[in-house]
Amino acid sequence: MNDKPTIASFADFRPDREKFLAEALAGLGATPKTLPSKYFYDDRGSALFDLICELPEYYVTRVETALLGSIADEVATIIGQDAAIIEYGTGSSEKIRILLTALNRPAAFVGVDISGDALLGVTDAMARHFPDMAVHGVCADFTQPLKLPTLAGSGKRVVFFPGSSLGNFDHQQAEDFLANAAKTVGPDGALLIGIDLKKDVDTLNAAYDDAQGITAQFNLNLLTRLNRECGADFDLEDFRHRAFYNAKAGRVEMHLVSLRAQTVSLGGANIAFTKGETIHTENSYKYSTSEFQDLSRRAGLMPLHVWTDADQLFSLHYLHVGSQYYMP
Ligand code: AVI
Repeated sequence: MNDKPTIASFADFRPDREKFLAEALAGLGATPKTLPSKYFYDDRGSALFDLICELPEYYVTRVETALLGSIADEVATIIGQDAAIIEYGTGSSEKIRILLTALNRPAAFVGVDISGDALLGVTDAMARHFPDMAVHGVCADFTQPLKLPTLAGSGKRVVFFPGSSLGNFDHQQAEDFLANAAKTVGPDGALLIGIDLKKDVDTLNAAYDDAQGITAQFNLNLLTRLNRECGADFDLEDFRHRAFYNAKAGRVEMHLVSLRAQTVSLGGANIAFTKGETIHTENSYKYSTSEFQDLSRRAGLMPLHVWTDADQLFSLHYLHVGSQYYMP
């Protein structure tokens, strides 16, 4: 077997420090204070997220992986042969491998992720594992429009967005993302999207505030990054992780709570915190099946199939792109 990496292309558009600092200053200067959740995923954050996916409380990954395994052959029949798959948020490669293994001669795969080293590792491994498929990596912030490489294959273009990562966008951003993804795959393309379902509050709260404190480390890693990359002086002992389900908004919220009144310096600015004030670091929206299908229709997509596990914890949606997305 050929040992050499055979990635067809790898493009690096990751946000630089200046952008990180500018977005952090804007968020911490606002009321209430916020930080963008996309900055969780440096190398340490990606490694912590992999640990989260193994936690007993975090059912999301386990349930979705099993669900995908049980429907992969059906999905492969729907997608057909010679397809090109574009995966957003390529973390650990387990789910995409299940899909690609089930597909009939997939022609191309593009992994898009903000974490460069993790993406390079996964695309390299994929290129070795699927030698007949063109493998591309695009390291980028996929909340912004991006340019993808030209893709081999005469079959469908399909965006695969697992893990309920769409839940980290608010409803308007999610709709915009779906509409953009539809343009990316074009007419007769499709989207296969993993969405976490609404469920009892205790299950949700435990999933985002685990007993081992891994999610707390993941959340606090944002401050570690600001200290290291932007010269901030956050004292991590002075902030605590808080996560809870906000039923009215239909989302789990993650915050970092200031344990005392304090001032932190960042990029020449002094940021004052009162005791108990929080930085809102993440939303993780949960949807019922009909709520998500309505959102998809608003984005101009046709919800053709939905699969859920027996306990109704998680859903996978197959959304068809109609001819309105034809671009000459
Ligand atoms: C990546 N994303 C879908 C995760 C979620 O469940 O919202 C991120 C996460 N945050 C805390 N735990 C997991």
